[in-house]
Amino acid sequence: MKNLTVVDNPFVKRDVTILRDKETNPADFRSALNRVSYSLAIEISNHLELSEFEVQTPLEKTKGYKIKKQIVLVPVLRAGLSMVSSFLEMIPDAKVGHIGLQRDEKTLEPVDYYYKTPKNLDESVTILLDPMLATGGSAVASFNYLKKRDANNCILACLIAAPEGVEKMGKEHPEVPVYTAALDRQLNSVGYILPGLGDAGDRTFGTF
Ligand code: PRP
Ligand code: URA
Repeated sequence: MKNLTVVDNPFVKRDVTILRDKETNPADFRSALNRVSYSLAIEISNHLELSEFEVQTPLEKTKGYKIKKQIVLVPVLRAGLSMVSSFLEMIPDAKVGHIGLQRDEKTLEPVDYYYKTPKNLDESVTILLDPMLATGGSAVASFNYLKKRDANNCILACLIAAPEGVEKMGKEHPEVPVYTAALDRQLNSVGYILPGLGDAGDRTFGTF
């Protein structure tokens, strides 16, 4: 997929290893996830347009920069919540929408239960946050919703992607750049990513 960027600097490689390790406890899992999210946010910033303005230093005027468009972060509940704080530290004036989806364990189809996004998505850059891109069903359903709300400049930030999910995004939303910290091998028979990290929501929130 031409729109796929794998962000794998040495810090990310170390932290993805911590996330994969089944012995990692939820506190260390959340810390590693926060650090990887910083790296994703920094890489994604290369995709954002700047506007220039004049800034007055204590000594003289010089050129300054700001991010041109309003950024809207949209975590997919629950696991996407774990990426919000790092992105907000890098983009403090971002707005935050929420999409509630849960995969049906039998069909693997996403079932929606909550939507709340800011107005004027057509004038914003919308960054969907979800650590896992597995079958791609949840990401595709999220962008279907966001596009109905007029989002036209969208990015997906995830932690681990399966080839199946990347392919589905490429078919359904080919213009959306996908940033991930790892591209894994495949899905297993029940839709989990291999080698993966298990259930991201459960490992983040300790619900096991
Ligand atoms: C996980 C994950 C994604 C989805 C990915 O959420 O956070 O949203 O699965 O799978 P897909 O690409 O096959 O759609 P889950 O449904 O487990 O909900 P949770 O975050 O509430 O645990
Ligand atoms: N959701 C998860 O949390 N993990 C997977 O491996 C696939 C979907």
